[in-house]
Amino acid sequence: MQPMTTETALQQAAAHIRAAKQIAVLTGAGVSKESGVPTFRNALDGLWSRYDPQQLATEAAFMRDPKLVWDWYEYRRGMVRQAQPNPGHVALAELQRRYPTLRIITQNVDDLHEQAGSTDVIRLHGNIAASKCSRHCQGSPTLVDVSQITWEHEKGPPPCPHCGSPLRPDVVWFGEVLPHEQLSRAVILAQIADVMLVVGTSGVVMPAAEMPHLAKRNGAVIIEVNPGTSEITALADIWLNGPSGEMLPRLLEVL
Ligand code: OAD
Ligand code: ZN
Repeated sequence: MQPMTTETALQQAAAHIRAAKQIAVLTGAGVSKESGVPTFRNALDGLWSRYDPQQLATEAAFMRDPKLVWDWYEYRRGMVRQAQPNPGHVALAELQRRYPTLRIITQNVDDLHEQAGSTDVIRLHGNIAASKCSRHCQGSPTLVDVSQITWEHEKGPPPCPHCGSPLRPDVVWFGEVLPHEQLSRAVILAQIADVMLVVGTSGVVMPAAEMPHLAKRNGAVIIEVNPGTSEITALADIWLNGPSGEMLPRLLEVL
């Protein structure tokens, strides 16, 4: 990657987007940061700052202490419920209106892309707002509407109404496989994309982080949007070095 000014980088990114037949976007926690949802690899504030997400987001942690893990997700759900899409989400939704074949692959478990108006989002890591049986008793996933259950919150997660096992959030934990259909769609998209925008991800969690590599091997131009460097930066052809809530609206302006 040649060093270039932000203005030049934006112009070059816009030229590639204009020429593209298929645009893919891979997003991570950074795109929701300006909506007030903390990223994973920054210290959390307050109550939960002493817990490492990577230590809590596993099945082993849930088996060991279901209440601790459930309560941590309830805390994160609270933050997600309050969050509104920021100008970065809105710009991506607008970009899809202009280029209807554009698809977003997200690692995020919030629904801020959908709230901003993006459609057919490929969700690799699940949905934090939903809950499912930890034993998959009626098939995988056995989704349960928690608002219909009364239970003793001090004792931990609500019980599955079918089998009594503890419910858990409908997210992918470390060591678990990704939803098959979503992952295959992401792989196909990465293979056919002419341009991949990689927004707000550290690029360290596989297999999501494999997508930009796959796209690059198949000839795509990689445009990274991130205020810092990531594992993707070395691969990127263009780096829009700034927060996505600023850089994506600026990109739309020059398109
Ligand atoms: P990380 O927390 O690892 O990385 C967030 C990235 O966002 C970093 O590269 C930051 O530099 C960047 N960033 C910060 N502020 C930003 C802003 N305003 N605009 C754009 N970028 C910004 O989050 P992810 O890469 O999403 O997995 O993490 C990947 C996965 O690890 C998550 O999906 C989650 C986690 O464990 C599961 O839940 C399975
Ligand atoms: Zn069950």
